[in-house]
Amino acid sequence: MAETITVLGATGRTGGSTVRALRARGVPVRAVTRQPDGRGGRALAAIGAEVVAGDMDDETSLRVAFDGIRLFNVQPAYDRRGRYQGGLEVDQGRAVARAAASAGVSHVVQLSAGRGRPENLPHFDNKLLIRRAFEQQGLPVTAIHPAPFMELMTSPEFAPALATWGVEPRIVGWERRLPWVALADIGERAASELTGPVPADGATIELIGDLRSLDDCRQLLRQAGRRVRRAPVPTRLFTAMVGTEFVNMWRWITTIAPEDLPLDPELRDVPTWIAELAPDRERAPAG
Ligand SMILES: NC(=O)c1ccc[n+]([C@@H]2O[C@H](COP(=O)([O-])OP(=O)(O)OC[C@H]3O[C@@H](n4cnc5c(N)ncnc54)[C@H](OP(=O)(O)O)[C@@H]3O)[C@@H](O)[C@H]2O)c1
Repeated sequence: MAETITVLGATGRTGGSTVRALRARGVPVRAVTRQPDGRGGRALAAIGAEVVAGDMDDETSLRVAFDGIRLFNVQPAYDRRGRYQGGLEVDQGRAVARAAASAGVSHVVQLSAGRGRPENLPHFDNKLLIRRAFEQQGLPVTAIHPAPFMELMTSPEFAPALATWGVEPRIVGWERRLPWVALADIGERAASELTGPVPADGATIELIGDLRSLDDCRQLLRQAGRRVRRAPVPTRLFTAMVGTEFVNMWRWITTIAPEDLPLDPELRDVPTWIAELAPDRERAPAG
């Protein structure tokens, strides 16, 4: 019998993708959520996960929730309305690290951001502080540094979905090639790392499935009959609503030469990801 893997953020994007990939391999999963009886919790139970209550703002609840020796760790950087949460993710990550050590966890796969080095962008650099907190507890960390999720192009949530088409092009331009990765590839890679050998000194993994401009992506989505939702939000209003992190991150992306990024040809590119999308209830009108 495979060992149980504990997954934080299990009702969310990367945690949810990781649970699905683990369950597809028949691996027992303990999925942590603040609301086990909520819709997300019930959906996880339906695919065979053991769903348990745990709150990253309540360290004691985590000690109870953690089971098994390997853990998928993620902290949201933004709240449900897309507003940047500052150092809260570091406080939560440190609480998770302490609880994980006391619960006997011995390997952590961390959902990170950026490229694994300080960038002077708080929500990237916070991930390095969280990694350090695990390492200080003697836990090796496999840090997954994904490119921006392809799902940002279609997600119906307020931010960043509308921002991808309405604000981002003003910062990065329509023509610059940008890194992208599909959530399914993040989950599959996390599942591989959580079920494979533990790297004694940890590891840093960048995940980039495609390098494509917003214009390219927009055309591909339209060819597939998808509506590209554009919200003409002024940049200043956008930052007043959600903070400056998004805009600063997009500026950071413009400082990186696409040819320096480690594209992984084994991962989904944007056309493959589009081909796998569920049918769109809001198809764009033909023509
Ligand atoms: N978006 C991108 O393109 C991108 C790219 C690279 C890296 N990242 C990084 O990805 C991370 C976000 O990952 P994600 O998109 O998978 O997150 P997400 O979809 O927002 O999900 C986060 C989950 O965390 C859980 N959660 C929130 N507060 C909690 C708490 N106090 N205690 C326990 N659980 C809590 C929520 O579950 P419940 O409500 O069920 O408890 C939620 O489902 C960020 O740190 C971001 O920097 C994002």
